[in-house]
Amino acid sequence: MAEAQAQQRGGYTEEVSAGSSAVDGVRFEVDGEIATITLDRPEKRNAQTFATWSELARIGESLPEQVRVVVVKGEGPSFSAGIDLRMFTPEGVPGQGSFSSAAKSDGTTFEQRIRQAQAGFLWLRRPEIVSIAAVQGHAIGAGFQLALACDLRIVADDVSFCMKEPALGLVPDLTGTKPLVELVGLAKAIDICLTARTVRADEAMRIGLAEIVVAGGDLGQAVQDKIAELLATNRDAAAATKRLLQGARGRTLEEQSVAEGIEQAARIRALFG
Ligand code: CAA
Repeated sequence: MAEAQAQQRGGYTEEVSAGSSAVDGVRFEVDGEIATITLDRPEKRNAQTFATWSELARIGESLPEQVRVVVVKGEGPSFSAGIDLRMFTPEGVPGQGSFSSAAKSDGTTFEQRIRQAQAGFLWLRRPEIVSIAAVQGHAIGAGFQLALACDLRIVADDVSFCMKEPALGLVPDLTGTKPLVELVGLAKAIDICLTARTVRADEAMRIGLAEIVVAGGDLGQAVQDKIAELLATNRDAAAATKRLLQGARGRTLEEQSVAEGIEQAARIRALFG
C-alpha cells in the first residue's frame, strides 16, 4: 500500500493512497474489481454540493480499468437529503457560491455548471461497469437522482424516495428524469415528481424503483451477494449485454436483432477465433 499523502486540490484536502481517497464528504475505495463511493457527511444527512458532484465526476474520469462494480452508498441514517440547502441562501456554501449568485450570472454559464454536475452522475451508466445504489433512509432530490443514476437499487426497508425539486420551484436536473420514466412509466413519474410525495420501500419494489428490499441491518450483505452474482459473469459478455440492453429502447426489433448479431459475432471471435 503506497503511503498516504495529503494533497491540496480545489481548496479541499485530499487523502490519497493506493486504493482510497476522501474529498469533501465523498470517500472512494477500490478493492480489486469493486469500487465503493460513500457519501460521508452523515451529520448533514449527506447533503450534496457542487464539490460533491465535481468529486463524483473526478472519480468517474479516473476509475481504474479493472473495476466492474461500483457501489454508491451513504454513511449514517440517510442515503442523501439532496442538495445542501445552504446553496439556496444568499451566502451559499463557503467557497462554492450559491444559486442566487449563479442566477445573476449569464444563463450559459449556469447551464455549463449544471452539465458539469451531471457529469458526476452520467458515468455510472457505462457499459463496462454495473453501478449499485445501496439506499437506506431518505433519498431526497439530488439523493433520489443519485440512486436513479445507478443501474440497480438495493434498498433498506426504511427507505423513502422523494423528488422534492418541483415543490421548491425547481426541476430535477441531475439526470434523474429519464431513468425515472423508464423505470416506473410516465404517469407514475408525473405523480411522484409533481406531488413530491414520498415513495416507501413496498411501493418502490412494486413499481420497479428497487430490485431488492431488505431489513436495514442486511443492506451491506445484500449488496455483497449481488456483487458476487455479477462478478461470476464473464466480464466482456456482461459489458456487451449491457450495451445491447441500454440500446434496446431506442431501436426497432429489426435494428436490435442486427445489434445482437454484431455483438455475438464479436464474442464468438473473442472466444473461439
Ligand atoms: N442541506 C443541508 N443540511 C441538511 C440537509 C440539506 N439538504 N438535510 C439535513 N441537513 C442537516 C440539518 O440541517 C441538520 O443539521 P444541524 O444538526 O446542524 O441542525 C442535520 O442535517 C440533521 O438533519 P435533521 O435533524 O433534519 O435530520 P432528520 O433525520 O430528522 O431528518 C431529513 C432528515 C428528512 C432528510 C431532513 O433533514 C430534511 O427534510 N432535509 C431537507 C431535505 C431537502 O429539502 N432537500 C432538498 C431536496 S431538493 C434537491 O436536492 C434539489 C436539486 O437537486 C436541485
